[in-house]
Amino acid sequence: MTWGELKQATVLFADIVSSTEQIADLDAEQAMDRLGPALARMCASIEKFDGTVIRTLGDGVMAIFGAPRALEGHALLACEAALDMQRAFAPEGQGLRIRVGLHSGQVASDPQNADGKGGGAHGLTIHLASRVVGLADPGGICMTESCYALVRTLCEVQPMGQHVLKGISGQSAIYALTGFRMASSDQHFHPASLTPFLGRDRESDLLKQALLATELGQARVVGISGEPGAGKSRLCHEFVQWCRARQVPVFEVRAQPYGHATPLQPGLSLLRTFFFRIPPADDAAAARSRIVERMAELGPPAEADLALLYEFLGVAEAGSAPSALSPKARHARLLNVVRELVKHDAATTSVILIEDLHWLDEASEEFVATLVEAAAGTQTMVVLNFRPSYRLPWAQFENFEKIDLGQLNLKETEHLVRTLIGPRAELQDICELVAARSGGNPFFAEELVRSLVDRGYFLEGSDLRAGGLEAIERALPATVQAVIGARLDRLGEPEKTLLQMCAIIGKEIPLAVLEHMASPLAKVIEKGLDGLCHAELILPQPAVGGRRFTFRHPLIQEVAYSAQLKVRRGPLHGAVAVAMEVYYRDQLDEYAGLIAYHYESAGQFLDAASHAARAAQWVGSTNSALAIKHWHKVRALLQEQPRSARTDNLRVRAGGQICVLGWREGLTLQEVQPFIDEAMELAGEVDGRLIQLLVMAEGRMLQASGGPADGYVERLQKAQSLMEPGADAGRAAMINAALSQAYAWAGMLEQALAANTCALADMGKIDRFDREWIGFSVEHWVMGMRGRLLTRLGRLNEAEQCLKELLVMAQSSNDPVILQFAHFGYVDLASCRQDAALAQRHSARVAEIAEKHEGPYLRVFALSCRAMAASIAGDFGTAVRTFSEALALVRSSRVAMEFETEILASLAECHRGLGNFEQAQDVASEAIEISRQRSTRLPECRALITRAGAMLDARGLASATQARALFTEAEALVRMTGATIYEGTLLRERSRLTMFTDRRDQIDIGAGQAV
Ligand SMILES: Nc1ncnc2c1ncn2[C@@H]1O[C@H](COP(=O)(O)OP(=O)(O)OP(=O)(O)O)[C@@H](O)[C@H]1O
Ligand SMILES: [Mg+2]
Repeated sequence: MTWGELKQATVLFADIVSSTEQIADLDAEQAMDRLGPALARMCASIEKFDGTVIRTLGDGVMAIFGAPRALEGHALLACEAALDMQRAFAPEGQGLRIRVGLHSGQVASDPQNADGKGGGAHGLTIHLASRVVGLADPGGICMTESCYALVRTLCEVQPMGQHVLKGISGQSAIYALTGFRMASSDQHFHPASLTPFLGRDRESDLLKQALLATELGQARVVGISGEPGAGKSRLCHEFVQWCRARQVPVFEVRAQPYGHATPLQPGLSLLRTFFFRIPPADDAAAARSRIVERMAELGPPAEADLALLYEFLGVAEAGSAPSALSPKARHARLLNVVRELVKHDAATTSVILIEDLHWLDEASEEFVATLVEAAAGTQTMVVLNFRPSYRLPWAQFENFEKIDLGQLNLKETEHLVRTLIGPRAELQDICELVAARSGGNPFFAEELVRSLVDRGYFLEGSDLRAGGLEAIERALPATVQAVIGARLDRLGEPEKTLLQMCAIIGKEIPLAVLEHMASPLAKVIEKGLDGLCHAELILPQPAVGGRRFTFRHPLIQEVAYSAQLKVRRGPLHGAVAVAMEVYYRDQLDEYAGLIAYHYESAGQFLDAASHAARAAQWVGSTNSALAIKHWHKVRALLQEQPRSARTDNLRVRAGGQICVLGWREGLTLQEVQPFIDEAMELAGEVDGRLIQLLVMAEGRMLQASGGPADGYVERLQKAQSLMEPGADAGRAAMINAALSQAYAWAGMLEQALAANTCALADMGKIDRFDREWIGFSVEHWVMGMRGRLLTRLGRLNEAEQCLKELLVMAQSSNDPVILQFAHFGYVDLASCRQDAALAQRHSARVAEIAEKHEGPYLRVFALSCRAMAASIAGDFGTAVRTFSEALALVRSSRVAMEFETEILASLAECHRGLGNFEQAQDVASEAIEISRQRSTRLPECRALITRAGAMLDARGLASATQARALFTEAEALVRMTGATIYEGTLLRERSRLTMFTDRRDQIDIGAGQAV
């Protein structure tokens, strides 16, 4: 059975004005006699232009252009039909007057029901169209903005102002259609709005060479083939300009999308303009005399030929008898005239451009073939352009040359988009996005930009970034959809069904997955794929790991996808998900996100959530922001699901993981608290052991968002207390690892080292679940902390050994935080040793990692390391600037808050190094104050020493008492924490006190003597 589809279409309503009055005095039969022929006339116009009559009402009709069969020029065809109707009901006609309303948009078409009784099409578009007709004047045609947008370059209209249409909010602009514009390339490409012409050097050269050959009497016929919107017409336009600049006359004709409704139109206009040079303003008599004149050049004209030409060109004398020749004979004679005229003009160079050959009607085709053949050896160059679907009947002609016009390259496309959007640096990524989505098709790029503009995205203050890709996706304009949709509709079976399945699978189509979905088509699948490749809708890919295909253009997939009704897509997505699980069984982590997407689209939310969790877990170690997004997705997918062990488990993991990952992305405890609370509650029922991990995560978050390090210690002690002593060595090691971190931040170095040693001892027993839970390598983590602890404890050689091992291990890890941590450890060590070269080397590596992986956490460390290296090298100016930058980043992003007091303490030291004693004291005070709130004792200790030292620097003796008190506090902290590395500095600074005191004694003595 065939399924319904979503189509871009134009809906036409036409009705007879005041029909009730027209039939007021008539009985039913008479009424039908009067209105019936009128309705038939309307239907004839509709059918002539490829519309489908959906319904006839007593006094009107409803028709659709573009559904059930997609039509690229649906709006234009509807306009043409409306104008045709209007002509049929001209005032001098049957006395009846009609009005017509047009509206374009999406409709759901249902071929099963396309019975002419109205069951075949649905959607708001139809309701709106029915409202528009009432706005038309008697005898008039009016259309909505969305219809006008599709025909604006081709139709003449009169704005009718804004109107309220029932069913849509706000006002809608309405236009009255008055006629068509003559379309020639000059009108097509308004110089004022023309974007710069990009690329196409090779093609332009080929055309120019061909003209030079033509000028020498070796006329060429050049056919330019390219996808819709690739730029065929534009290339021709540029060439035409070049020809005209050389004084070479160019004659242009184009085939129209409704070619078969108006056969021979292109041939006709070629005869008029090129052969007989009849200006549009000429009346019939003037036209006839031009024809006679021109024909006389070939020798005395045969009367029969003249009569035929008059008739054909619509300039026959009134009352003259129609030609008695059979249509076939007439056609043959006309072609003969063409042939002779071309040959006759052999001595003057001219160019004939025929556009859009793919729409050419059969009769015109012969006409063009005659022209092409006759042009050989003359100075008439013929340029043709057409889409790849067009089969050239004269490709074998010797003087014929074909140019395949591909897409613009990425650089050119981006340039084009930038020109359209304007040179705004902040829109660079949007440019790239649009360029990528357009796939190098300039028309698509322009249309995408246009619809973003229409939606006000580039207005001051609108935040395009907020919508990002989605906004651009939504903006996919109706014209692009219709262009592609019409191509897809021309496909036969099984190609069409296969293509729809491919679209569901995605941009990448593994054959195995397609086979799974298309099992009923197994016998014809190869043939179908061949057909699709031949039509260049999909492309075979290099077959590594099984045959696969991709869509040649991203928009083909999107249109093929969005044309399918949701009810049909769902089950197909489900089938894709199942097939992918099998196909990607060895790479499930990598493809879990994609499989989750398919399950979600199939409405299988629990399966989707499981896969989203897997994807989150997988990206967690390399991209925490993305992982958090996935975990939120897990929560969202589970929202409506009934409770079960499986959903509870996933919820606990999601909540816990958002919290575990949160510190890297600057989430605050407050933000994650609801997730932890929910997870704790569920964990109690699911698995009590999970609570330990949640308590641990909560502690880490507490500290990372600026809470006290002692609070983190407490949480971990609580987690320990929840364990059965001696029963769970692996978990105990995990908690000890965290405890080592918590104690280290609290400055309790001996306790930290002890916990670290415990963690190290039982690390091998930590199970997979726990490892995945923290999302990075416990080994690296514990070793990194150990290195730092040993440095703080002044055991520098051991620290170095530890860092050396870590660095070797970390090379194999793909977690940037861990790798950075190892190098950071070295900078720390270098700072104790005052080894500027070592600091410089590792700081450079830290910077590299931050550059490569982005994210504020890594950046804070990169800045801090750079500042530390500068400070060790004695460049305090740079150090102050860079530490300040790091501090500002911490404060704005709220990431690495646990590091804030260290940065402040260092900053104070560097200010002092620069001789800014007052600032040094201020910053040190701040460091002390915040350190106390957060129980980060080591930075507090450093800041106490700096503050006291800077006081002495600034005020000497006068501050001795205060400084002494600060030194005493610092000493107590050194003792409490075990941070012996600060002992030396403390001693040195303190000794200045004695110096001052001695001096005071001397002064006192001196003073006494003076007394
Ligand atoms: N090389 C180019 N540089 C800049 N803009 C281009 C280029 N080629 C095409 N364009 C722009 O892209 C749009 C589409 O181009 P054009 O109308 O020539 O496509 P086409 O191949 O003739 O399409 P169709 O098959 O629908 O006739 C036009 O607005 C044109 O100005
Ligand atoms: Mg074109």
